[in-house]
Amino acid sequence: DTKSEHYRPQYHFSPKAHWMNDPNGMVYFKGTYHLFFQYYPDGTVWGPMHWGHTTSKDMVHWQEQPIALFPDSLGYIFSGSAVVDVNNTSGFGKNGQTPLVAIFTHHNPKLEKQKPDQVESQSLAYSLDEGKTWTKYAGNPVLPNPGITDFRDPKVRWYEAQKKWILTLATKDRITFFSSPDLKSWKKESDFGSDAGAHGGVWECPDLVPLNHNGKTVWVLIVNINPGGPNGGSAGQYFVGDFDGSTFKPYSKETKWMDFGADNYAGVTFANTGERTILMGWMSNWQYADKVPTINWRSATTVPRELGLKEVNKELFLTSKPVKELDVLNDQGFALKNLTVNDQYDLTTKAKNDTGLFRLDLATQATNDFSIVLANEQGNELVIGYDKGTNNYYIDRTHSGKTDFEKGFGKRHTAPRLSTANKISLTLLADAASVELFADDGLTVMTDIFFPEKNMTKLLIKSAKGISISNLTYSKLNSAIPS
Ligand code: FRU
Repeated sequence: DTKSEHYRPQYHFSPKAHWMNDPNGMVYFKGTYHLFFQYYPDGTVWGPMHWGHTTSKDMVHWQEQPIALFPDSLGYIFSGSAVVDVNNTSGFGKNGQTPLVAIFTHHNPKLEKQKPDQVESQSLAYSLDEGKTWTKYAGNPVLPNPGITDFRDPKVRWYEAQKKWILTLATKDRITFFSSPDLKSWKKESDFGSDAGAHGGVWECPDLVPLNHNGKTVWVLIVNINPGGPNGGSAGQYFVGDFDGSTFKPYSKETKWMDFGADNYAGVTFANTGERTILMGWMSNWQYADKVPTINWRSATTVPRELGLKEVNKELFLTSKPVKELDVLNDQGFALKNLTVNDQYDLTTKAKNDTGLFRLDLATQATNDFSIVLANEQGNELVIGYDKGTNNYYIDRTHSGKTDFEKGFGKRHTAPRLSTANKISLTLLADAASVELFADDGLTVMTDIFFPEKNMTKLLIKSAKGISISNLTYSKLNSAIPS
């Protein structure tokens, strides 16, 4: 029984069995959210990649589908995206049907030794039955390799102003933009990034998204990087700037981090969600993804997050917030006003939570250190807090349960508080084996997985110097897995 497995995420997508990594081809089409994912159906570690497939009406309840794409003579099916080709620019649509088109990286393992700079190329597949079955394009690859060892993870979007497709590709230590009228023939537009951002590892899984800021379109370029993240291993950085259909011009070449936790990688956005921009990431880290102590499967996605922009000291930052659809999970809860915490306040009895799944929202002044502690009878503790001295948020999983599968796992992760407001507001989402912290309207975000011996049924708020919480709302969350 999948639902009752130890560590099984109850409202984050995870495959019933076997290995997954990056989310791929996320697209909303005819009332259904499609999530494809890097999948190895023959084991619980990385292997020859397929595209697994799962669908949802609300991004919360997922129904796993048959595998969408299998490896072929051109290689494994690496990460990529999918679009709704409304105008049938590709010509794949027959009899007025709108094709769904996937563009992915073919990774040919046979060439790894002799021709490493020929291993990766971009290819197409299309579906005329709402994502159920896929046909690979006979003219693959559509974007052959020009001699670059890491040449992958195509993310495509329609650029309406110039009526063309824009492909954002990770090319080793930079991003290369290509354009196309029909998804089949691609022309290089420009490169970005060899002299910008973090370069502690290879650049992977990019995304270029327009966001509205006070009526003006601002472009955010998301670039995942592995290793070299702020708390070790894989992480997602981003740049804010302008895009004119050909080149991306950042307002600053300095890296900003989308999520300071250790476990949000390869995050990209859904296609075709209208005014909303929704991102999901892989909730793990290449540092230890194949060592985590789950038995029948490995990894999950983050919750879907709605992206926005917020200005702090004249600089624009990306914000991430859990999508409102998650509210369907809300179970019993309570609200408290003007709660004074002196030393500690134990919410365990009020919360009556045997599963450890909950959402907590609280607001307080940024006056003193405080922490939120998830714990169990076994003495495991996960500590999420604010440190006034450094003005950092942190998640400490040092004593959170099983940590010995990897040396660097049991650590404290920190994130700078970007907001300058006096009031701190936090949203915390806890699942069986993960927490996601959204601070200050999503300006500072941290996602961490953890593996407690038993469910974290206790919940405490601690503050040695004392804090006053103006508002606190707590809700148990239901599982999204059907019994
Ligand atoms: C990122 C990544 C991608 C690649 C895929 C392979 O996690 O390394 O760059 O396409 O995973 O599974």
